[in-house]
Amino acid sequence: MNILEAPFVKGFIRMCDDGFNQNWHERNGGNLSYRIREDEVESIKEELAWDKPWQPMGTSVPGLKGEYFLVTGSGKYFRNVALDPEANICIVEVDETGENYRLCWGLVKGGKPTSELPSHLMNHEVKKTASDGRHRVIYHAHPANLIALTFVLPLEDRVFTRELWEMATECPVVFPDGVGVVGWMVPGGREIAVATSELMKKYNVAIWAHHGCFCSGEDFDLTFGLMHTVEKSAEILVKVLSMGSGKLQTISPDEFRALAVDFKVTLPEEFLYEK
Ligand code: 13P
Ligand code: ZN
Repeated sequence: MNILEAPFVKGFIRMCDDGFNQNWHERNGGNLSYRIREDEVESIKEELAWDKPWQPMGTSVPGLKGEYFLVTGSGKYFRNVALDPEANICIVEVDETGENYRLCWGLVKGGKPTSELPSHLMNHEVKKTASDGRHRVIYHAHPANLIALTFVLPLEDRVFTRELWEMATECPVVFPDGVGVVGWMVPGGREIAVATSELMKKYNVAIWAHHGCFCSGEDFDLTFGLMHTVEKSAEILVKVLSMGSGKLQTISPDEFRALAVDFKVTLPEEFLYEK
């Protein structure tokens, strides 16, 4: 099959476009990766090449040995992905040690996978285990309202989770585990990847202070929808804070507990504290 006809590639490209249209991807901001299923790799095998050298990925992900990933390129713009996929995205294979990768397709005009490859792959490794292999998408975006909140809210999981839950009734149903927050760190390396993947053991959302957000999910719809829901909630909170009078009323801990029963989700009590 022509790679560009493969449903997972079409879904990936559409998600890049959707993210750009949300204004989450200024310039080369943000990156996306998809852990390709075995049957999907099989379906495009005649278009892959294995002649490129192995490169160190800057971290170690033994749980992903032999896996293939569709990834955005470093310095490439989301707005250009749909126009010229071969030049802006790529497929990489992880070697048997889990420490190196090689380019098997794409980036035909040069370049390498996203500088956040260590965070993507470490998150994939954690999520593959935590979800029994169901999670396949890791998405990093720069949504403005969520980033704005990292300047005014304490950088604590319990505060961000509770505030975002209160802003929209659907939130505790969409992300019942809550959200994690990483304090400001230098992006693009192993250290921030370790901190993020540690949070991903517990959450599907990790917020990077003064930078952006990582989401994990089973497919493109769920992962994009998760980022969309979190950012929408952040937008409402920014509006509420901007109106100056504070909240006159909100959703109470007991109301969250009632919601959890009807919607059959478990909401950890650590987020239902009395204020
Ligand atoms: P890349 O262009 O290397 O993907 O980096 C963009 C980004 O958002 C870094 O955090
Ligand atoms: Zn970024």
